[in-house]
This record gives sequence, C-alpha cells and structure tokens, in this order.
Amino acid sequence: MQAFVTGPFAKQSPFLGGNVTSSTGKSSRRPDRALTTLRATVTGNRLAEGPVPGLRVNDEGKIWVPQRARPRRNRKTEGLRSMVRENSVSPSNFIYPLFIHTKDYNEEISAMPGCERHSLESVLKEVGEAEALGVKSVILFPKIPEDVKTNAAEECYNPNGLIPKAISAIKSRYPNVAVWTDVALDPYSDQGHDGMVSADNRGDGGMGRILNDETVEQLCRQAVCQARAGADVVAPSDMMDGRVGAIRDALDSYGFTDVSLVSYTAKYASAFYGPFRDALDSAPRESSNAPPNKKTYQMDPANSREALIEAALDVAEGADMLMVKPGMPYLDIIHRLKAATNLPISAYHVSGEYAMMKAAAQRGWLDERESVLESLLCFRRAGADAILTYYAKQAAQWMHES
Ligand code: PBG
Repeated sequence: MQAFVTGPFAKQSPFLGGNVTSSTGKSSRRPDRALTTLRATVTGNRLAEGPVPGLRVNDEGKIWVPQRARPRRNRKTEGLRSMVRENSVSPSNFIYPLFIHTKDYNEEISAMPGCERHSLESVLKEVGEAEALGVKSVILFPKIPEDVKTNAAEECYNPNGLIPKAISAIKSRYPNVAVWTDVALDPYSDQGHDGMVSADNRGDGGMGRILNDETVEQLCRQAVCQARAGADVVAPSDMMDGRVGAIRDALDSYGFTDVSLVSYTAKYASAFYGPFRDALDSAPRESSNAPPNKKTYQMDPANSREALIEAALDVAEGADMLMVKPGMPYLDIIHRLKAATNLPISAYHVSGEYAMMKAAAQRGWLDERESVLESLLCFRRAGADAILTYYAKQAAQWMHES
C-alpha cells in the first residue's frame, strides 16, 4: 500500500498545482487542468487523496521521474533484447539420459512421466529422434536383473552385458551420436551402493564401510569394458577418491586415449535422486550392514568449499569436463567451479527436479514449456556448458517449434 502524504507537504505537490521544479530548473506554477486529467488517468481516484512526493512534471506537463539511466530502454523491443542477450541454450548443449533394460518392451517410470525404461529397439528409435532434433549426446543407465547383482558388481564389466550391447548398437546405427556411460556400481550392486560394502560393521553408524580402493579397481574394469564397446565418454558418478586418475590410466594403458572422462566432481548426497533410484531399483538396500544412505561418499549439501577440493583433484587427475549434480538447487556450485577451472562444466538436471516440474505442469500449476526452457537457460547463465536433462528431446522439440 503506497503511503500518501497529506498535510502541509501536500500543497507542494505538482498534482495539486503546487510549486514544482521543471527540467529547466525553473520553478513554475502548472495549470491544474492538465494535471487533474493526468492524475485521473495514471492512478485513478486514489491520488486525489494526496500527492506522491518526489515526482516531477516535465516541460510537456507530464509526470517525470528524473533519471538519465533507464535500463528498460535495452528491453523495449525483441530486436534489442535479442541483441544484448548474454546467454543462450541450444540442443547441442544437451546430454539426454536414457534408461534401458533387458526386456523387449518399454516400461513407464511412475515418478518420471514421459520417461521410460527402453528396450534396445526403442532406445535406438529414441536416440535417432533426439539426434534429428540436434541432441547429439546421450548417457545410458541400465536396469539390471536382480539375479546378476552382487556386492562386487562384476556384471558391470561383462562384455556381453546390457550396456556394452546398447553402446555398440547405438554407435553402429548413429556414429555421430556421442554415447556417454555412467561409471558406478549401484545398478549392479545387491547392496544398492556405488561401491563395494565391507563385510564388517566398522563404518558410520555401525554399518559396513564403502571400500574405496577395491571399488576403484572395479570402476576401472567397468570403464575399460565400456570403452571397448565404443563409449565416447565415460562419466564416473561414484565419488570414490582417486577414481578419475585411476580410470584415466586404465583407459590409456588399453589404448583408449581418445575416450573422454567427464567426472561427477561435485555430486551431493541428495534427496532429488529418488525417482532415478526407483527407475533402476538401485536405492541402498536394507541388508544387515549396507549403510542406509550415500553420505560417506557423496557430498554434504551444506558444503561448497569442498567442491573446490574435488574440482582441483579431478583437474589434476586428468578429467576433461567437470559435473555438478543435482542442478537447480546447486547453481552456486556451478558458478564456483566455472570460476575455479578452465575446463568445461556440465550440470545434471536430475530426476527429482524433472519430477517436480512434471507434477506441477500436469496439475496446470506451471507452464511446462516456459518454465523448462527458462530453467535450462539459467543453467547456462550460472556457467554450465553442457546440461544433462530428461527434458533434452522435448526441449529441443520446443526450440525447433519457436
Ligand atoms: C548412480 C547415479 C545416480 C544418478 C546418476 N548416477 C543416483 C545415485 O547416485 O544414487 C542420479 C540421476 C538422477 O537422479 O537423475 N551413481
């Protein structure tokens, strides 16, 4: 509610015909009629109750708020707005995450409407459609049958496994699509952890420990297996210490010097991964000693300086690109990593973020197209070069339509 000044000061008001200073600096007395009309058009009757202090009248007799800089001038037309626009987002910035499984039909993912666990045939079709819209990179996540899951997750380097088969099928059909893979044990782990769980109970809260170095050895085998199948980019998401350097060395020693390594550098222990874990049935298991969460390896959401430690290590260990995950609640981390390194930065707009936007859109509470495109642009403004998003294909479609 705007406060109107009454009393003696009211008499000074230009709207009441009091003394005013015009742009020429001369004091003048304005006729009441023009101002009365103006007062009625601009603010209606409320103004009749009193003057608005500080406003002036220009030589044309119109209200004037004296100021030279007016930022709105650069926003006045779409032509100008597009000329001075600082950031943009395009389908070539996207990496499209896709879920695959061993069945020959698709299954819906309940908390991620519009996403499915794809059969091999269907994933090929999806990759083709995405490529046609300009999305040139995909990242694959497998739902592994329960009976092949183990604590050491040996299935993750089975050359005839689901991921190697999908990689080679995609690469042979779409050689120009970059295939990224996730390097971590969780889809293959009967404990639901990214690393191997110790048999003892000497870890946090009297639970098992996540065995760092033993896990790194498995991750190296997994990454080499993915590279052999034709992966263009391997992306370790496990958060074990030293895994970037070890995977780089393993790839190089097998001759895969051209395979890129994108590190999930600042991956937080986040509740926003919930729908993803449902999609892959990869959440930590309630077994005798598996820790109930991933807090001993994924980062504490309260921390940002720690992300700089992780970034410095990943750079030193030879990462080609760094990643921040989740995305929207962590834009400050994207910004800080961008400033701290000259490597490209990617951001993961994760499953829970997708679920939130979908849910609101389905209820008609958000304009899905506008809010999604705005969110993706904001990732770029924060400093992300690349964005992993379940909206990749849909956003590319919207961009083509406009
Ligand atoms: C597995 C992995 C996860 C995600 C990507 N890789 C889940 C987790 O760490 O528990 C989450 C992606 C998403 O939520 O969209 N290491």
